[in-house]
Amino acid sequence: MIYLNGQFMPVEEAKVSVLDRGFIFGDGVYEVIPVYNRNAFRLAEHLQRLQHSLDGIHLPNPHSDSEWAHIIARLIAHHADADQYLYLHITRGAAERDHAFPNPPVAPTVFLLSKPLMPPAPALLKSGIACITATDNRWLRCDIKAISLLPNVLLRQMAVDAGCVETILLRDDQWMTEGAASNIFLVRDGTLLAPPKDNLMLPGITYDVILEIAAAHSIPHEVRRIRKAEVYAADELLLTSSTKEVLAITRLDGLPVGTGQPGEMFARMHRLYQDFKRDVYQDFKCDVMRAP
Ligand code: PDD
Repeated sequence: MIYLNGQFMPVEEAKVSVLDRGFIFGDGVYEVIPVYNRNAFRLAEHLQRLQHSLDGIHLPNPHSDSEWAHIIARLIAHHADADQYLYLHITRGAAERDHAFPNPPVAPTVFLLSKPLMPPAPALLKSGIACITATDNRWLRCDIKAISLLPNVLLRQMAVDAGCVETILLRDDQWMTEGAASNIFLVRDGTLLAPPKDNLMLPGITYDVILEIAAAHSIPHEVRRIRKAEVYAADELLLTSSTKEVLAITRLDGLPVGTGQPGEMFARMHRLYQDFKRDVYQDFKCDVMRAP
């Protein structure tokens, strides 16, 4: 069952106009929200980032936070899995093809789907992953979670073609921004380093959780711009995202990162992240989670 424009229906019955601006222009935004034990993880933060993305593309939010919570609760209830992966997608709707916004505005297209959420395989946690680097050739509003992801698609495919998992992006061939579909942290001499949230990277929800965990457990951490040379000299590199949680990057451009094995910071962060997931219950859990 998926949600489309006010209705729940089997995915085979869901239809969207070929004139939808999401299809024609990639004119829309999205969120990926993990669900643990039937609770939407950090829902308030995901909805806040959704609002930021909608503001960034001048599209009014079609729903209040409580309406979103209600739709999401019903979608979760339609699926048997306790852990789910929610995909939420809003476009500017269907209109005659013109780059400028439809005037008068048309109804946006609102689409949500749920899939079972699989945690990273134990073998991957044990070995870590291999990544490559590439020049960050995306636009200057990477803080908007836009559905127009062609640069990210091509950058991620570069990793897959090289037998790797992710591509770490270097802006101006100098500054590390993030992965093609993830955020990246660096560890040097026991300090966790993260690039600052600005227009050049997506403000990751998992990124925030990692920094909160570091602060709560007095793990030395610093948020500042990170140079390419520091990436190659890192003791550890960590990748984070809603679907991959925390992974160790153990090879970069064919060379070992640090010892070439997942390091101490990874082991600690991964354990603390699992604890965090278990302990945190969202405000939005409330009664709507039991809605039919
Ligand atoms: N991607 N940076 C980019 C470019 C991303 O696409 C993502 C997540 C992240 C991590 O953000 P978060 O911690 O909020 O998941 C950073 C999702 C998972 C996706 O597109 O499927």
